[in-house]
Amino acid sequence: MPSALIFGGSGKLAKFITERLVKKTYTVYSVIRREEHIPGLYELGATPIIQSLEDSTVAELAEVIKSSLPDVIIFAAGGGWRAHKDPTFNRIVDRDAAIKVFDAMVEADCTKRIITISTADARNRSRPRPSWYNEEDQKVSDDLWTTLPRYMEAKLEADKNLVEQNMTRTLDYTIVRPTWYNGGGWTGKITAGRVGMSPKVSREDVADVFVACIENHDTIGLVFEVVGGDIPVGEAVRRVAEEKINSFEELYR
Ligand SMILES: NC(=O)c1ccc[n+]([C@@H]2O[C@H](COP(=O)([O-])OP(=O)(O)OC[C@H]3O[C@@H](n4cnc5c(N)ncnc54)[C@H](OP(=O)(O)O)[C@@H]3O)[C@@H](O)[C@H]2O)c1
Repeated sequence: MPSALIFGGSGKLAKFITERLVKKTYTVYSVIRREEHIPGLYELGATPIIQSLEDSTVAELAEVIKSSLPDVIIFAAGGGWRAHKDPTFNRIVDRDAAIKVFDAMVEADCTKRIITISTADARNRSRPRPSWYNEEDQKVSDDLWTTLPRYMEAKLEADKNLVEQNMTRTLDYTIVRPTWYNGGGWTGKITAGRVGMSPKVSREDVADVFVACIENHDTIGLVFEVVGGDIPVGEAVRRVAEEKINSFEELYR
């Protein structure tokens, strides 16, 4: 049976990914911080593992990976509600915990494949705006970087670390960059690639994107945006893979 290990498994997006993978007969290991999430995760069919990312060393996270031997690792954690109160959690979770997971994968030396959650507009803002942005995208970008600068910086630095250190880590990564979640339900449709920031997208549709990436190895090494749209998720991800959309150089350098 295939298996997946989700770091930040108690999150809203992570639980939608879990549901989908369990339906596809994956064994899903779910790394979480708080015990209160255990019953809900068992109900979804996952195996919870209590191991707080921020309180763990790389060696401890490597042990978690070695003890579960997953085919694929998903990083879906985030500073979330704690970061709203104290933005330090953006650095602690969105950046540092992510980087610890990348290093732990190297130390564990058993799983190469990782799909990580970033955010649309994590980019080097001293460069001109991306060529595919329109005025509305620019406005959303300005708002994001004004209201959540430490969040945006944390995601940017985690993504940069993953890509720039990969000559030595040699992981099979994909970086998914959704725009704002809209709180809506599943539509099964999105637009993906170099697509800017609008319209918003549902977590359920982004969960489908993660599953499509797991199933499409041609997404390895790609970095792409996801917004709401009208293209079935599998097809949208297939196009990204065929066109080898990798926005890293334009966005992050
Ligand atoms: N909101 C948006 O519009 C938007 C847009 C694009 C991308 N994103 C990103 O999408 C991702 C998922 O979003 P979401 O809405 O599903 O977030 P969420 O519900 O806040 O989930 C984040 C999860 O990370 C867990 N976590 C935090 N610190 C941890 C630690 N030390 N060890 C283990 N787990 C830990 C949290 O657990 P606790 O609750 O126990 O802390 C929480 O379950 C986030 O990275 C977010 O930044 C969000």
